[in-house]
Amino acid sequence: MKTVLITGGCGFIGSHFVREFLKKHPDFKLVNLDKLTYAGNPDNLKDVSKNSKYKFVKGDIADKKMVETVFKKFKPDFVVDFAAESHVDRSIHGYAKDFVDTNVYGVFNLLEAAKKFGVKKFVQISTDEVYGSLPLKSRTKFTERTRYNPRSPYSASKAAGDLLCHSYFITYNLPVVVTHSSNNYGSYQYPEKLIPFFALRALKGGPLPLYGDGKNIRDWLHVLDNVEAIEKVLFKGRPGEVYNVGGDNEVANIDIAKRILQILRKPDSLIKYVTDRPGHDRRYALDSSKIKKELGWKPRYDFDKMLKETVKWYRDNPDWVAGAIKRLKRVNPHIKIETVDVLTTGLSS
Ligand SMILES: NC(=O)c1ccc[n+]([C@@H]2O[C@H](COP(=O)([O-])OP(=O)(O)OC[C@H]3O[C@@H](n4cnc5c(N)ncnc54)[C@H](O)[C@@H]3O)[C@@H](O)[C@H]2O)c1
Repeated sequence: MKTVLITGGCGFIGSHFVREFLKKHPDFKLVNLDKLTYAGNPDNLKDVSKNSKYKFVKGDIADKKMVETVFKKFKPDFVVDFAAESHVDRSIHGYAKDFVDTNVYGVFNLLEAAKKFGVKKFVQISTDEVYGSLPLKSRTKFTERTRYNPRSPYSASKAAGDLLCHSYFITYNLPVVVTHSSNNYGSYQYPEKLIPFFALRALKGGPLPLYGDGKNIRDWLHVLDNVEAIEKVLFKGRPGEVYNVGGDNEVANIDIAKRILQILRKPDSLIKYVTDRPGHDRRYALDSSKIKKELGWKPRYDFDKMLKETVKWYRDNPDWVAGAIKRLKRVNPHIKIETVDVLTTGLSS
């Protein structure tokens, strides 16, 4: 029986991947190494926790000894690294060190262990944000050959992790593959992120704080489309290669806000423009023709339908939302996240 090591499996994308993988691959053991930061919630995987093929290990990928112990004990054939500090605003507002610790040093520890113990494939989950920002009025998209130009501490730390991965392929022939996905949406996403945040603000009667002029564009991808792409890359992706995974679905933030309000039958007047995020990337758009052509993947989920389902999921799971906010206060009491505070206390000016 083969073993796959997943890191960050209690987070948003990781938990969806774990659930789908266990369903589809009963011939695999799956080990989930997660530090359980505020964004990592074991309840996201309550339904699989008793599965005999599933093993959860609480641990930090920035802890070299912990990583080595896990590799020694479970001897993973495959690794998929989802573990990350992932919220851009937090990387900007004072917590950049956490991003470097996990997204750079953590990746280094995993690569070192993979080199020492040997693996068949190492998939690094990265982001379109490493490529920087595109002009609003252009049709250009990021390809796998676009030069890296990260503009926030988050994207810079992810870019550094990616470059380490490339170097371990070139220098040590470690079979590493990197995926760059666009913005994911779906259930179980920490409520500080745009879609759950706006949905929850709208449910509370607003306001919905919108950065700048609201015209920034993101390419939205349903989380299960990403999960399918990652699985294809894990089994069929060519070592040393990079694959873009986009939704072919560019939407401006203002339109996301309006669609959510429409779904919940609330007025557009709940939108409140606020000072822009420093260095706010204007537009992301991914050219995913490589993964479509090579691995036969394409996004399948319809945005309007799945946005509706997603918004309803946050409406219908108030206990999960309350638990997520409580987790932040318990696990990282020092962290102040304005988006989370406004969820509970209303938007300060
Ligand atoms: N969410 C998106 O839209 C998106 C888009 C592109 C790329 N990505 C990338 O996908 C990956 C997963 O993103 P997500 O949205 O699921 O993130 P998330 O914040 O929801 O989850 C991150 C998970 O990693 C765990 N973790 C954090 N630091 C750790 C450490 N040091 N050791 C072990 N575990 C640790 C957390 O506890 C949590 O379970 C990240 O690498 C992110 O950069 C996300």
